[in-house]
Amino acid sequence: HDSLSYRNGELFIEKLAVEDIAAEVSTPFYCYSASTIRNAFTLLADKLKPVHASVCFAVKANSNISILKLLADLGCGMDIVSGGELERALAAGVAPSKIVFSGVGKTRREIRRALEVGIHQLNVESPAELDSIREVARDLGCRAPVVFRVNPDVDAHTHAKISTGKKGDKFGINIELIEELYAKAAACTELDVAGLAVHIGSQLLNLSPYRAAYRRLASLVDQLRSRDLPVRSLDLGGGLGINYNFGVGPDVGEYAAIVKETVGGLHCELTVEPGRWLVGPAGLLVTEVLNLKEAGGTVLVIVDAAMNDLMRPALYNAVHPVLPLQDPGHRSAHPYQIVGPVCESSDVFGTYDALPPLQSGVRIAFGCAGAYGASMASTYNSRDLIAEVLVEADRFRVIRRRQTIQDLLELESATPWQKCRSE
Ligand code: LLP
Repeated sequence: HDSLSYRNGELFIEKLAVEDIAAEVSTPFYCYSASTIRNAFTLLADKLKPVHASVCFAVKANSNISILKLLADLGCGMDIVSGGELERALAAGVAPSKIVFSGVGKTRREIRRALEVGIHQLNVESPAELDSIREVARDLGCRAPVVFRVNPDVDAHTHAKISTGKKGDKFGINIELIEELYAKAAACTELDVAGLAVHIGSQLLNLSPYRAAYRRLASLVDQLRSRDLPVRSLDLGGGLGINYNFGVGPDVGEYAAIVKETVGGLHCELTVEPGRWLVGPAGLLVTEVLNLKEAGGTVLVIVDAAMNDLMRPALYNAVHPVLPLQDPGHRSAHPYQIVGPVCESSDVFGTYDALPPLQSGVRIAFGCAGAYGASMASTYNSRDLIAEVLVEADRFRVIRRRQTIQDLLELESATPWQKCRSE
């Protein structure tokens, strides 16, 4: 957040007034600070250096090619979950040897493409998926590098919709089944079984679930090694949370200490897969007030951004802080409920007090919107996907142009009628 500041009542991102960018790029738009992302990566990589853990950015958090490139240029690898994310990582110039492929359901086509380009590893999510990988590898005549994603049965103490490490969750393989599967796979010539992976959930503010999960992982490593099954690689997942109020979040030094204490002595190649922590604080969603109206004693502020642009409030009741682009210093006497124009009752950003008086034409920004903002956007209500802008010191560039309605309509030019089997 070092890149956001107020100077004479004006919001700056790095060396630019957000208002000046908004004069050039139509609202709503996402605006990211390059230096905030760089600083986050450098800090995390430094803290993890003593444990020799490498960082693979979870592409799902922000999949813009320029953001991926920015991180890749710092030496960051990528954690992908689809063929689409693979193509993005490749387009950003990431070496396949720095890409790991997670995700609960991979199609054969995705597996094939990943093996063809020489991906670092596939994180296997089920015995059936392992069979598919084996078959594709046999077809291609190659050895597929795999690790098994373990479901450690640990409660991540985070929002239920982003918790992934409890028994019964759709993620990973039941920890009790791993040993047999590992032994079976290690005997297959089409597979190069490298180790294990774990990811227990997202937006973790309390780090102790990591300790519990990594301890289970470590004892599983001991168990496998005692059967002479080699384990050389551990993928520790992502999930590091951020403080959505620009306050202090979890201490990454403490996280590194947990990694060291639990798995540091196993002589494994270690990887972490953070998404949100690297990019979340770096992004703003800039929007303009369309109208104000009153409903049952509440003052509603209708802005031009909506739930299709930033789904997190509607989906997880997340609250993103509001930063006015101009802050006159005085405050409105009453709270504002900020809502979007989409025809859904859940299209509400939240109720905020202590904002300056708002009126039509005033611009505000939602903070901490760099992760799971643009990457989760949709075109619901036939709203075009908005632009993304990257700021670097005293310059900015559009890193995704705003979609046009024409782009959207073109996808729907219907093909001629075709026949297939019918009665
Ligand atoms: N690795 C795996 C296997 C994952 O499933 C995820 C996130 C990550 C890494 C990165 O997690 P992070 O470090 O960003 O917490 N849309 C939700 C978050 C969903 C996270 C899904 N998996 C949100 O907006 O809060």
